[in-house]
Amino acid sequence: MGVSLSTPTLDEKIFALVDRIVCGVAFGKSYGGNQFKDQKFQEVIGKTTKMMDSLSAENFFPSVGWIVDVLTGLRGRLEKSFHNLDEYFDRVIDEHLDLKREKLEEDDFVDVLIGLLNDEASDYCPTRDQIKAMLLNTFIGRIDTIAVAMVWAMSEVVKTPQVMQKLQGEIRTSLGRKSEVDINDLPKLKFLKMVVKETQRMHPPAPLLIPHETISHCKIGSDGYDVYPQTRVLINAWAIGRDPSTWRNPNEFDPQRFEGSDVDVKSQHFELLPLGADRKICPSISMASSSMELLLANLCYPQQDTPLPWAHSV
Ligand code: HEM
Repeated sequence: MGVSLSTPTLDEKIFALVDRIVCGVAFGKSYGGNQFKDQKFQEVIGKTTKMMDSLSAENFFPSVGWIVDVLTGLRGRLEKSFHNLDEYFDRVIDEHLDLKREKLEEDDFVDVLIGLLNDEASDYCPTRDQIKAMLLNTFIGRIDTIAVAMVWAMSEVVKTPQVMQKLQGEIRTSLGRKSEVDINDLPKLKFLKMVVKETQRMHPPAPLLIPHETISHCKIGSDGYDVYPQTRVLINAWAIGRDPSTWRNPNEFDPQRFEGSDVDVKSQHFELLPLGADRKICPSISMASSSMELLLANLCYPQQDTPLPWAHSV
């Protein structure tokens, strides 16, 4: 029997899984699947992210660039995507305002934001549009960052059998006869953490981070290169992670390089910046790394009764 054309690919499955995790935290449930008239949620998020990453003439020539964006169709496509998302966020907010809604044990992100609307003691009272902007910030470039990183991790692990072997061995030894890896198992899985770090080094999902702008004049480099206020700064995290003056064999997927090293992604080490650094570092740094570890461990976890392909060599 042939494989059905509609069988989800690994990246579709990973996206759906990450969508469930992020939406679970933000909305209390996943609204995935066919939420939009003519497109899937994944497509709308993917298209919007791509458009936000694409070069907009208006960003570089604010007074006239919009004409180019209209002519190239970028502005029309952006408006359609945002209209779609706007309707979607309205629905999420309305559902949360519904007093008959079955509430979860813990408030989700939308409950917290809506709580601010009604909290008279709070100085900050966001408008509905501000809540939607925060939801947009949670979505665009968030679900797909973890999903993209996961697809890279799986591709590298599958391509490097000795890494897969070591990873599966570590998981099986640490978990005994448990049927799945849960969050409490993660601290024991040292090699897993190295695999995730190595994936983040070689394949940062946001290779140029998010564009930054300087607010004051500064000098950088030994020659004192001047950078003036309001200069757009792009940080090439991809190139930093593959700099041969820092990393031995930088294009080789070798998680073992982190053995005994204290280099991590938490912004103290400027040779590894997949999540940014300092005050602008990704606020979801813990969730990003632990979600990746949990997903990867479960995807690679060998079933107890399945002999490992390399079993004869152990
Ligand atoms: C592997 C997964 C992730 C990666 C690689 C990643 C990476 C990044 C990067 C590079 C930035 C920009 C840092 C800078 O400005 O220099 C960022 C910002 C941000 N991230 Fe993440 N992220 C991930 C997951 C997430 C998740 C799951 C969420 C939310 C649920 C999230 C929420 C945010 C937000 C709200 C910002 C903007 C912070 C600001 O503007 O100050 N990220 N992330």
